[in-house]
Amino acid sequence: MDAAPEAKRNSFPSMNFEAEILTTPHDNSELYTIPSMRSLTAEEYVEAFKTFLDHSTEHQCMDEFNKEQLPNIMAGLGHGKSTINVLGVGSGTGEQDLKMIRILQAVHPGVLIDNEIVEPNPQHVAAYKELVNQTPDLQNVSFIWHQLTSSEYQQQVKEKGTHKKFDFIHMIQMLYRVEDIPNTIKFFHSCLDLHGKLLIIILSDSSGWASLWKKYRDCLPSTDSGHYITSSGITDVLKRLGVEYRVYEFPSGWDITECFVEGDAVGSLMMDFLTGTKDFLGTAPPALRQRLREALCQPECSSTKDGRIIFSNNLSMIVVES
Ligand SMILES: C[S@@+](CC[C@H](N)C(=O)[O-])C[C@H]1O[C@@H](n2cnc3c(N)ncnc32)[C@H](O)[C@@H]1O
Repeated sequence: MDAAPEAKRNSFPSMNFEAEILTTPHDNSELYTIPSMRSLTAEEYVEAFKTFLDHSTEHQCMDEFNKEQLPNIMAGLGHGKSTINVLGVGSGTGEQDLKMIRILQAVHPGVLIDNEIVEPNPQHVAAYKELVNQTPDLQNVSFIWHQLTSSEYQQQVKEKGTHKKFDFIHMIQMLYRVEDIPNTIKFFHSCLDLHGKLLIIILSDSSGWASLWKKYRDCLPSTDSGHYITSSGITDVLKRLGVEYRVYEFPSGWDITECFVEGDAVGSLMMDFLTGTKDFLGTAPPALRQRLREALCQPECSSTKDGRIIFSNNLSMIVVES
């Protein structure tokens, strides 16, 4: 499948909010967005993301990658150094980070791990710290949290004039929300030490998201902010940078059945995550809701299994060499 070209989700970047809400859709039947529609706040995003995780195999899919590929990938890190420096960008609540640290410990027994985290959401940082407190066997691991966005971190590094190098940097399912994707990838790639690796996990071009964002963009509200980017958008950037990389594809699904059940609280939160919009089902014009639900059922987006509607959430794991 062709990749969805990277685009800003809000399709009217030059318009002000008033102009935006008065924009009519292609069939002139309704307002594209009504004033009560708004994007998710950081707190609301936390809840919607959790509901998505609870109903998808997103983390199980990453577990498969961790099991099948990560030990080999990590074996080459550090080159005998006594400390391996790790940087997580957009680490969320840290579950995936700790799983990867466990693999690093198994592949390099006895090594010290210096783990830094760049994560802007205060609730996610607090939950990550709590998780560390409750996890045994992390004696050889140190943690430093930077409650910053990636661009704020980049700015801080520039101002301090320090440029610490890392053996392993990961950016897992987070590039959708950075300000400037090519610049962010270029900067964090420049933070790699010799023989270091950068792991980017992003939605695959074969995912339902890619079809939704490319073919059914008119079914999404303008309150959905961020970048519509999938794997090939990232590999295009990597090609332009002239760096070496390898892509691993892993299947994943998201059970969205409840999104079709009127008044279902879980379905409502999942639609909020899908559209980046607070109470999408309660605030979107009926025709937009209908169009989106129809698009979600298209075969390039979802399949049906045992009466459940499973949206394709396939992931691409991109491993970039220093
Ligand atoms: C979808 S979650 C992924 C979390 C985690 N990596 C995982 O896979 O479970 C995206 C994370 O990126 C963070 N984030 C959003 N914008 C960011 C930015 N500009 N820089 C760094 N992190 C960001 C969010 O706060 C959130 O924790």
